[in-house]
This record gives sequence, C-alpha cells and structure tokens, in this order.
Amino acid sequence: MEITNLPRHVGIIMDGNGRWAKRRHRPRSFGHSAGMDAMIRIVKRANEWDIRYITVYALSTENLKNRPREELDELFDLLRKYFSNNVKELHARGAKVRVIGDKAPLPDDVRRLLEDGEKNSPPDGKFTLTFAINYGGRAEIVRAAEVLRENGKNITEESLSSELYTEGLPEPDFIIRTGGEVRLSNFLLWQSAYAELYFTPVLFPDFSPKEFDKALKEYSRRTRRFGGI
Ligand code: IPE
Ligand code: IPE
Ligand code: MG
Repeated sequence: MEITNLPRHVGIIMDGNGRWAKRRHRPRSFGHSAGMDAMIRIVKRANEWDIRYITVYALSTENLKNRPREELDELFDLLRKYFSNNVKELHARGAKVRVIGDKAPLPDDVRRLLEDGEKNSPPDGKFTLTFAINYGGRAEIVRAAEVLRENGKNITEESLSSELYTEGLPEPDFIIRTGGEVRLSNFLLWQSAYAELYFTPVLFPDFSPKEFDKALKEYSRRTRRFGGI
C-alpha cells in the first residue's frame, strides 16, 4: 500500500485491554499483556513507515490514583519485563527511548529501569519512542508554569512549551485512540492543539498493523489548516 503524507509524530492512547480480557473470561492482566504485544507490533509497523516519533500512553496520573493496587502491580511487572528484555533491541534498531510523566511515585526499580532505558539510548536515534507513564497533561502544564515562575521567567507559549516533558519533540500530528471511547483522558493536552484525532472501537490488543495502516490512510486524507483557509 502506498500512502503519501504520513504523520511525523503519532500518539496512541492504548485503551481497551481490560474489556478485551473480560470478553475472554480472563483477568485484566491478560489483556495488558496482550496490549504490550500489540504495542510492539505497532512500533515495528511505524518503523517500516519511517514514522520518526511515536508516543504511547501507558499509564495516566488518574490510572495510578484510581486503579486497584493489584492491577498497578501487574502493570509495573509488564514494564519491568519490557524494559529489561525489549529495550536493548530497540536501542540496537536505532530507537531513542524517552519517558514522559512523573516517575517519582513509581517503584524504585521500575524508575531505574525507565531511566536506564532513556540514558542508554543512542544519541542520534533514527526514531524516538516515548512512553507516557504516570503522565497527565494538566499536571505537566502546571509543573511547567511552576518552573517558569520559580525562575522568574515570562510565560509565553514558547517558554511554557520548553518546560513540558515533551521538550524537543515535535507536536503530535495524529492521535489514535483504540477501545471506543471518544476522549483524550488527559493525554498531550497542550501538544495536541492541532493534532488530527482518530477513534476506533477496536480494542487495543486487536489493534493490528493492518488497523494501524487503515488509520494512516485516513490521516493522509485529512486537510490540516491550522486556522488558515
Ligand atoms: C488501557 O486499557 C491500559 C491502561 C489504562 C493501563 P484499560 O485497562 O483501560 O482497558 P479497559 O478500558 O478497561 O478495557
Ligand atoms: C486512558 O485510558 C489512559 C491510557 C490508555 C493509559 P483510561 O481507560 O484510563 O481512560 P478513561 O478512564 O476511560 O477515560
Ligand atoms: Mg480504559
């Protein structure tokens, strides 16, 4: 399939793991594990398209506050697994790994694994894979404003952007949400001001490379005006 006009930066709200598991009469953790596999397949597909920036929403600030401890522990286990087993291969494929969000409340070993994944990234990576973990758009904006205030800086769109977790990343062109909900749930609020949005009922573990291609095709048909005519 040929697609012209690909997004430079794709954000993915990976939703629907729990419902996917429920349909199979399995625990939610089974869905999260299948979601992790789906994510790995989508990142490979995005690489094949030469998409340079991918940001995946893995855990929101609200998830950390509102999910049962047991489920959070299972999610941390998955992160442990991924960051100890898969990240080296990603680096070898030329990926820069980045984590956005507040790592401080995460278990120490998970925080260290995430930091190592970032630190050991190749300096001039071919693409950047960003994980949003304990990430919330509102908390990110408040934190940036606080930094500017503490340093006595003026608040402008540029200065505020430069203090966001995403500093240095281009704004997302395309945001995909799986799982049927039609909302952003606090994902990249500032950065997605002009992003194209795509919602699909497909639950994330079923979001195949073919579904991803379908989304890209839809993106390529959109007209972005940025307020112009
Ligand atoms: C998304 O799947 C993954 C996380 C929020 C960690 P959910 O766990 O929200 O799955 P559903 O929405 O309950 O099906
Ligand atoms: C959004 O999914 C967060 C992630 C995918 C990490 P949620 O399942 O937490 O969103 P809501 O609660 O349905 O808005
Ligand atoms: Mg959900």
